Amino acid sequence: MRVIIAKDYDDMSVWAANYVAKRIKEFNPTEEHPFVLGCPTGSSPLGLYRHLIKLYQDGKISFKNVVTFNMDEYVNLPEEHPESYHSFMFNNFFNHIDIRRENIHILNGNAKDLKAECEHYEEMIAAAGGVDLFMGGIGPDGHIAFNEPGSSLGSRTRIKTLTTNTIQANSRFFNNDINLVPKQALTVGVQTVMDAREVLILCNGPHKARALHHAIDNGVNHMWTVSALQMHPHGTIVCDEEACVELKMSTYQYFKDKQSIEGVLDRYLNLKF
Ligand code: GLP
Repeated sequence: MRVIIAKDYDDMSVWAANYVAKRIKEFNPTEEHPFVLGCPTGSSPLGLYRHLIKLYQDGKISFKNVVTFNMDEYVNLPEEHPESYHSFMFNNFFNHIDIRRENIHILNGNAKDLKAECEHYEEMIAAAGGVDLFMGGIGPDGHIAFNEPGSSLGSRTRIKTLTTNTIQANSRFFNNDINLVPKQALTVGVQTVMDAREVLILCNGPHKARALHHAIDNGVNHMWTVSALQMHPHGTIVCDEEACVELKMSTYQYFKDKQSIEGVLDRYLNLKF
């Protein structure tokens, strides 16, 4: 696993956006052979999306031949609800770039048959040739997408009941009222994410420090589903200094030394397109 330690949230976001934009450009996507991007929601990727939008506005990158698959969506929350992941993605990203509507895929949490919806989603990912790069965040309990602690690390897209922890954490978007937070969600599985050719996870802030410690310092464990990334041949976590406060000193020092010797932090922070 590669771990990039950025100074703060802004540097983490710029690093991640430049990295993703470079990958898309190198791929040189066409209509027949598009780049397939996995997208997260949450506050962690907001800066990344802002910077990608800026790169688009500056004419440095196009999303015309990018196909997206979102990680998850609440069950029974109307699409037009301001806190649905549909609304989040259009408000914070899709409405500001040149992506084609038909290239956007988000799970339908209001589908009549939720199981069929999940199966169809996996089929669509396969038909698109798999995900080239899955971006993601981490919940404070180490969940990836909505794969709560105890989720099978071999799981695929399915319906998932949220933990009280997650409901509490997400209540900040619902007037801090846990009763307004949906109790279930549709989510890609851990295996769906791990099947991507590359995975890039964002992790910032002191409230994510415990999750980061479990993701990196300890073994693969279904109670910290992001730890499955340890098994991925091309997995990267980009984090900020605040998220590192619970890492083992030797782990922290190694990754800091490594990034300075390899120059990988500066390379993407200062990337010229
Ligand atoms: C939700 C999402 C996750 C996200 C997590 C963290 O639970 N399903 O995909 O990683 O929140 O959110 P935030 O980035 O706001 O901390």
